[in-house]
Amino acid sequence: MAPNHRLPLRLAADLLILLLLPADSGARDTISPGQPLRGNDTLVSSASGTFALGFFSPPGSNNTYLGIWYAKLPVRTVVWVANRANPVRGTGATLSVSSSACELAVAGANGTVVWSSSSSPPATGAAADGGGDGPCTARIHDDGNLVVRDQGGRVAWQGFDHPTDTLLPGMRLGVDFASGKNLTLTAWASPSDPSPSPVVAAMETSGDPEVIVWNGDAKVWRSGPWDGVQFTGVPDTVTYKSLGFTFRFVNNKQEATYSFQVRDASIVTRLALNSSSTASGLALQRWTWLDAARAWSLYWYAPKDQCDAVSPCGANGVCDPNAVPPCSCLRGFTPRSPATWALRDGRDGCVRATPLGCAKRTDGFAVLTHAKVPDTARAVVDYGSSLAQCRERCLSSCSCTAYASANLTGEPGHRGCVIWTGGLDDLRVYPGYGQDLYFRLAAADLVSVSKSKKKVNTVVAIIVSITVLAILLAVAGFFIWRAKKTKSRKQGAWRAGPRSKEGSEEKDNGDDLELPVYDYETIAKATEGFSNTTKSKLLDWQTRYHIIEGIARGLLYLHQDSRYRIIHRDLKTSNILLDKEMTPKISDFGMARMFGNEDAEINTLRVVGTYGYMAPEYAMDGVFSVKSDVFSFGVLVLEIVTGKRNRGVYSYSGHLNLLAYAWSLLNEGNGLDLVDENLNGSFDPDEVLKCLKVGLLCVQENPDDRPVMSQVLMMLASNDTASLPTPGQPGFAARRAAAEDTSWSKPDCSVVDSMTITMVEGR
Ligand SMILES: *[C@@H]1O[C@H](CO)[C@@H](O)[C@H](O)[C@H]1NC(C)=O
Ligand SMILES: *[C@@H]1O[C@H](CO)[C@@H](O)[C@H](O)[C@H]1NC(C)=O
Ligand SMILES: *[C@@H]1O[C@H](CO)[C@@H](O)[C@H](O)[C@H]1NC(C)=O
Ligand SMILES: *[C@@H]1O[C@H](CO)[C@@H](O)[C@H](O)[C@H]1NC(C)=O
Ligand SMILES: *[C@@H]1O[C@H](CO)[C@@H](O)[C@H](O)[C@H]1NC(C)=O
Ligand SMILES: *[C@@H]1O[C@H](CO)[C@@H](O)[C@H](O)[C@H]1NC(C)=O
Repeated sequence: MAPNHRLPLRLAADLLILLLLPADSGARDTISPGQPLRGNDTLVSSASGTFALGFFSPPGSNNTYLGIWYAKLPVRTVVWVANRANPVRGTGATLSVSSSACELAVAGANGTVVWSSSSSPPATGAAADGGGDGPCTARIHDDGNLVVRDQGGRVAWQGFDHPTDTLLPGMRLGVDFASGKNLTLTAWASPSDPSPSPVVAAMETSGDPEVIVWNGDAKVWRSGPWDGVQFTGVPDTVTYKSLGFTFRFVNNKQEATYSFQVRDASIVTRLALNSSSTASGLALQRWTWLDAARAWSLYWYAPKDQCDAVSPCGANGVCDPNAVPPCSCLRGFTPRSPATWALRDGRDGCVRATPLGCAKRTDGFAVLTHAKVPDTARAVVDYGSSLAQCRERCLSSCSCTAYASANLTGEPGHRGCVIWTGGLDDLRVYPGYGQDLYFRLAAADLVSVSKSKKKVNTVVAIIVSITVLAILLAVAGFFIWRAKKTKSRKQGAWRAGPRSKEGSEEKDNGDDLELPVYDYETIAKATEGFSNTTKSKLLDWQTRYHIIEGIARGLLYLHQDSRYRIIHRDLKTSNILLDKEMTPKISDFGMARMFGNEDAEINTLRVVGTYGYMAPEYAMDGVFSVKSDVFSFGVLVLEIVTGKRNRGVYSYSGHLNLLAYAWSLLNEGNGLDLVDENLNGSFDPDEVLKCLKVGLLCVQENPDDRPVMSQVLMMLASNDTASLPTPGQPGFAARRAAAEDTSWSKPDCSVVDSMTITMVEGR
């Protein structure tokens, strides 16, 4: 046994060694020959410490894999796996790099190599500056790339050339013709098993390149070709541009690849292929990290609706998710199998009513607007021709059936086009997005109502009128009966949209929705007898910010994550209840409407809601959508920040409502003057300006200019307020508002008067 007096000295020496080592000594970012990675060791990227490389076991598994994950996030999210198909059983795995061949190898405890980098082709070595004869190294970079460099400093191999199921900013998806690499994503078999599943996302390069998600041999989703700005099947891409996303699509002799970047480094985002998602089936998903929620938030996914499936309406059929039934034939075409078509199975598609008159050159073109263009696997792309030249080219070839612009950025000539031959597969339309498709028709079908058909049309018109009248009477009868029935129950009613689809029947109570239903007592208890936020002290800034985020999350859940898409329609301060932890709960769903996932907006004759919170298009035209809830949310945010009501008047000249007043002060650079004086200047100016900007973006006149709730949450999560888009003049700005009291109204809870209330918690 060592004499006691020597101990302090040893301790001191140990301490000294510890002090001499750099602070982050536990986290190297490189391995070289002779310094393998073992057990629980990790490499951490050195510049920002964003990514870690090490061994992990997925939850529920005893297998060990070499993987890369986000080092700083509290939820381990693996973005790359080396030996996904060949796990090390149990622990004791090692990662080493050989000195001669610069080859990475993963070995089990018994020394058997289960994976090596040479089993995947090497990178095309770009010479590094200087060169030299250092050792081989493998280093984890800040973008998540694991890079092996040879003795000359050249890239011998890199992880970005071998994606697993995740595309990180800067990674490419597609084909690198020069090196022969097919850069695809392959979903994990299950959350506990990273081995490859049959679900693959790959760039199809035979026609105009497009991304296809496969499940085995079946096409699950098709991105459509790149139109110069976005994939035609992802028409909402433009809306993320304002958040600092940039998309890169390269299509030349060397490569056909897609990649993305985010300007704001504080936004953590990834595109992942998922085989285990439940309701939506397999999906390509874009996730963004929300610091406030300490969780990933689903930002975008595909397939989204029934028309996103591959070719639900067959060749020459058009899928419109807002139509009942969704499949129709292109003009001039009729169903191939009228019997199955009548049973609403459109997959057999449509055939031409009148043969083309190619030889006589009598054909012409009709246009389908707002389209996702047909599958381009068998299409020809011509980047040199104008649209007019493409039309000529198509007319002169008897097999050509349609053409469309290939490059929508090439204004004004729209140079470049895609030309289709044969059937037009997997066509769909979008409300308000998409591009024009010119499809070929015989001269007879180009005339809209030919004279010979007039007689038939008269008969049809009479039959239709009688049928419509009968249906109207039946519907009216039903509603009168229902109104009586509903009145007799004292419950908040849930309604399906007016264009209710099969399966979306009217629901009379919330039981069938995956929403918790609380009765009056529970709520009274949870809110301590609806205490209000009178006896309580003033809400400080942190609490207000927390409330804003909570409402945003609750609304996101309603709009996107709940099984039914729900539009609240009456969002206002008095419908936000706060619990003891000041966590907001959206309440009073008496006016809420359920939407099918496909509906973008609904028009109603009965405008209900609260003056001051209603979006212009809803108040004026009765059109409501998720964007009208976003408007109300924007008003709420501005009210919470300023402590003022939108229904007051706030300018010396006496005609600005809160929205216009906030906008003008923010524009003058005096945004902070808007903050509730009761906070006595104690607030985070960046957060305040961010909230004001977000609030104003939400109350834009045009619904298309308002963000959706997932974007709102991303903006709130971003630390770079300057990168947010600059809000334009808000809706209703010019309206002369009636003067009212201007104090911040505490939720008055007077709304809690019905027997049952359904509540959604902000998650
Ligand atoms: C590695 O980490 C696990 C979990 O934290 C722990 O149970 C295990 O003992 C560690 N192994 C070593 C060799 O440190
Ligand atoms: C993992 O190992 C433990 C202990 O050996 C065993 O009880 C458990 O069943 C194993 N789990 C799996 C999924 O193999
Ligand atoms: C060594 O380990 C690998 C993987 O863990 C296993 O497949 C192999 O059977 C083992 N070999 C021996 C001789 O135990
Ligand atoms: C790449 O892989 C996908 C999926 O396995 C396949 O469909 C595609 O044809 C491949 N592309 C090339 C150029 O090999
Ligand atoms: C797959 O999708 C489901 C449901 O959207 C989600 O819970 C899960 O985390 C996803 N898996 C991965 C690996 O992202
Ligand atoms: C599309 O047009 C833009 C602008 O004219 C041009 O810069 C770009 O290279 C074109 N893309 C293709 C694929 O031709």
